[in-house]
Amino acid sequence: MKKRYLVTSALPYANGPLHIGHLTGAYLPADIYVSYLRLMGKDVVYVCGSDEHGAAITIRARKEGVTPREIVDKYHALIRDSFEKIGIAFDIYHRTSAPLHHQTSQDFFRKLLENGQFDEKESEQYFDEEAQQFLADRYIIGTCPVCANPDAYGDQCEKCGSTLSPTQLINPRSTLSGSAPVLKPTTHWYLKLNEHENWLREWINTGKADGVQLHDPAAWKNHVVGQCNSWLEQGLQPRAMTRDLDWGVDVPPELPGAKGKKLYVWLDAPIGYISATKQWALDNHTDWEPYWKSEDTALVHFIGKDNIVFHCLIFPAILKAHGEFVLPVNVPANQFMNLEGDKISTSRNWAVWVHEYLEELPGREDELRYNMIKNMPEQRDSEFTWKGFQETTNTELVGNLAGFLHRVQVLVHKNYTGVVPAFDINREFKSGWDAEKWATFDTEVHQVHLKLEEMGREIERFNFREALRILMEISSAGNALLQFNEPWKLVNDDPELVKVVLNLGLQYAAVLSVAMQPFLPFASARLRSMLNLAPLAEDRALLDIHNELAEGNPIVRPNHALNTAEHLFTRIPDELIEAQIQKLQATAAAGPAIANAQAPAPEKTAMPLKEMIQYDDFAKLDIRTGTILEAAKVEKADKLLCLTVDLGFEKRTIVSGIAQHFSPEAIIGKQVLVLANLAPRKMRGIESEGMILMAEDAEGKLGFVSPESGWPAGSSVS
Ligand code: MF3
Ligand code: ZN
Repeated sequence: MKKRYLVTSALPYANGPLHIGHLTGAYLPADIYVSYLRLMGKDVVYVCGSDEHGAAITIRARKEGVTPREIVDKYHALIRDSFEKIGIAFDIYHRTSAPLHHQTSQDFFRKLLENGQFDEKESEQYFDEEAQQFLADRYIIGTCPVCANPDAYGDQCEKCGSTLSPTQLINPRSTLSGSAPVLKPTTHWYLKLNEHENWLREWINTGKADGVQLHDPAAWKNHVVGQCNSWLEQGLQPRAMTRDLDWGVDVPPELPGAKGKKLYVWLDAPIGYISATKQWALDNHTDWEPYWKSEDTALVHFIGKDNIVFHCLIFPAILKAHGEFVLPVNVPANQFMNLEGDKISTSRNWAVWVHEYLEELPGREDELRYNMIKNMPEQRDSEFTWKGFQETTNTELVGNLAGFLHRVQVLVHKNYTGVVPAFDINREFKSGWDAEKWATFDTEVHQVHLKLEEMGREIERFNFREALRILMEISSAGNALLQFNEPWKLVNDDPELVKVVLNLGLQYAAVLSVAMQPFLPFASARLRSMLNLAPLAEDRALLDIHNELAEGNPIVRPNHALNTAEHLFTRIPDELIEAQIQKLQATAAAGPAIANAQAPAPEKTAMPLKEMIQYDDFAKLDIRTGTILEAAKVEKADKLLCLTVDLGFEKRTIVSGIAQHFSPEAIIGKQVLVLANLAPRKMRGIESEGMILMAEDAEGKLGFVSPESGWPAGSSVS
């Protein structure tokens, strides 16, 4: 058991507002985890801040015609405000433009240099003669050598997911002037990542480094380990840690050749976690170092899947290369959340922006949180729809949770003037957990305790959807308790039963007011006030409840007086949902219109149909849903990828001819359809145990055929 926790969420780029995909990906899961740990009395610090460097910022500034400083100031404030209002409870929200961060990053760089971790190398890089500037990463676009996307960036193609270097682009052009760049020599510091490959491979797969067991690899998500292994498979190359840019952290100025050079944003940004911790410690008059340097610390990074390589390979290599820092015990990355059947996209304005939501649906912070958690893309991509949002809010939050809480409080107000009734502990009643069963107070309290423990275990394993489901089970059991015993009918005939049932109902309510806090912090506070219970500070309230329940003690005592009862949640009307759907479509309608203007859609040509078959021919095919766990290039075969596919009941190795269409790391976690009873066949020495079904358009472009997101692996398709 670790003594303290340092939890981080990816530093968002301060180049635009926060959307729901960010929220569910890296912030809500961390917030739940941290709130839970705090309620369990743990020593935990949760840090985050704005990522204010890199081309993401300067390109945005250029677009808006303002300085980078103006961009980061504007979006830092907007993002910080959104986080606060949606209840993400960081201990500090810092920023990488802070002097403390610049100094921390430069010191880190010096230490790496001192430890011999860099190679200084001259290479030819693209230079824009009109703009008189080297073109790092995103300043250069061109045609992707893998998928022919004409607008691939110098570091990555967003269409096929391939990682690129600028010189691989076909017909490169500068995003500054549009001109064709020229190659010019420049010198940079390269981190010798290749020298870290072996220990990283061992650490990722066994949890051991230098022979010490640091974490349990089985506790890491499959898709995270899979993506790391895909990168390791391709071999780690030395990576430049500096750039020719005019916005960012200066390379330590005393170094020869430092002039005009900045640290690579992916070096300085994760160091932002450390500088944020330092600032937090300064503000709280305490020491930051144990949180980063003591073996007793559990460091946990919450991120989205596009950040996996940086947090699982590159930053750990940097931490180890420095020598004094701990490595993360887990990096529970999430996959992506889609919106109404399409990828969330800032450029197409296909998003739900958190600051707009907060304005347009005021007071409904927890409704959004609930839906984000319920649909969290923990193992695979998921989806948010406005209709789904309305439906879950109205049935689960209003119907189940608020319904139960309101009912029990109103009954207590009506029958006992709002005071918790004393009760006969041995009196039997119908259990809310099991309609057939008769229970007593002790056994019922024991059931609730078991559920709470189960919920905690799921949170500790980063299974937040499951934890939320268990929380709601407690509420359902409360409802069932009332339903089965019908206290409203028995006030005259069996008043003792009514007392037990309502007392117990209030115990449920009190337990819920604490257990729901990590998920629904605003509702928790409202409920605590209705129940006339003290607000939750960082006071190990959940741990206390565990202890009380373990002894069979009540949480609220007889004679405790309640405050007025209100509805914890209210229904979301159709108009609200329709307005949101319309708004989304209105903004998106402009998007494709622009895209079409640039590239007219090719005329549709249909492929001729194959010959007619009978049902029996079709019935022989056993098609299953599956998830790609690992993907790697097959040596000496430029068309083939070797995949490991999870069919739920077993894992298959499948060789697939899609290497020219997709890069390995881009397809990990993808849900696919697999022809599962195809006779095995050897390809390039690898036995392929099935076939992935793909769609192909008239131009030979391939696309995955995926089941609806969230569909379990192994389902049969017919
Ligand atoms: N700004 C990056 C992104 O939005 C994340 C940076 S995470 C950090 O993808 F570790 F570098 F801070
Ligand atoms: Zn591509």
